[in-house]
Amino acid sequence: MDQDALKKQAAEAALQYVEGGVIGVGTGSTVNHFIDCLATVKARIEGAVSSSEASTVRLKQHGIPVLDLNAVGDLALYVDGADESNRSLSLIKGGGGALTREKIVAAASERFVCIADESKLVDVLGAFPLPVEVIPMARSLVARQLVKLGGTPVWREGFVTDNGNVILDVQGLQIMEPMKLEQQINNLAGVVTCGLFALRGADVLILGAEGGPRTLERS
Ligand code: 5RP
Repeated sequence: MDQDALKKQAAEAALQYVEGGVIGVGTGSTVNHFIDCLATVKARIEGAVSSSEASTVRLKQHGIPVLDLNAVGDLALYVDGADESNRSLSLIKGGGGALTREKIVAAASERFVCIADESKLVDVLGAFPLPVEVIPMARSLVARQLVKLGGTPVWREGFVTDNGNVILDVQGLQIMEPMKLEQQINNLAGVVTCGLFALRGADVLILGAEGGPRTLERS
């Protein structure tokens, strides 16, 4: 099976967690498969809170109502992809640049089900460059601080987030203490948020795999 088929398999398996109400929906190619699956049960749900303009477009194309988080309160379920996960279900996210809204929707949700192909499971986070969303005027300042934290930040040139900010992708990290690093980066002046999801990691990780989906739960 190719990588996209494994992503689709994980997305289909996540449908079993949908019980109705309003669903939090992430961003990315794996989530696009999930949105397509969600459309098959749209009569059972009230709508979705979206984490990006791209997901909003796809949800609306399927006729799934997109609701404002401010109007719906806490959510029972959030489904999103990841760029990497360790076995504690701490994640690196933000490859698609939607990390801030993703972190907001994850924080508002009781259960976070992460869907990915099995290549995303790693022993140590950091081989995938860590995205950091930054207020544009602070780009160089934040980059210098990230170097002091041991990384090599690279400006994602030409990319503007849905919030009007820029992304620094931090290469060369071996993240042994994800919660500590998440706090350190989020405390830098000018950082909106970093793509580490450790303080609020996933509760369930569904991995598309050759022998069928594998599910890991946060212990
Ligand atoms: C977007 C994300 C995505 O979840 C992550 O990049 C994984 O994407 P894909 O499902 O396309 O592999 O964090 O900001």
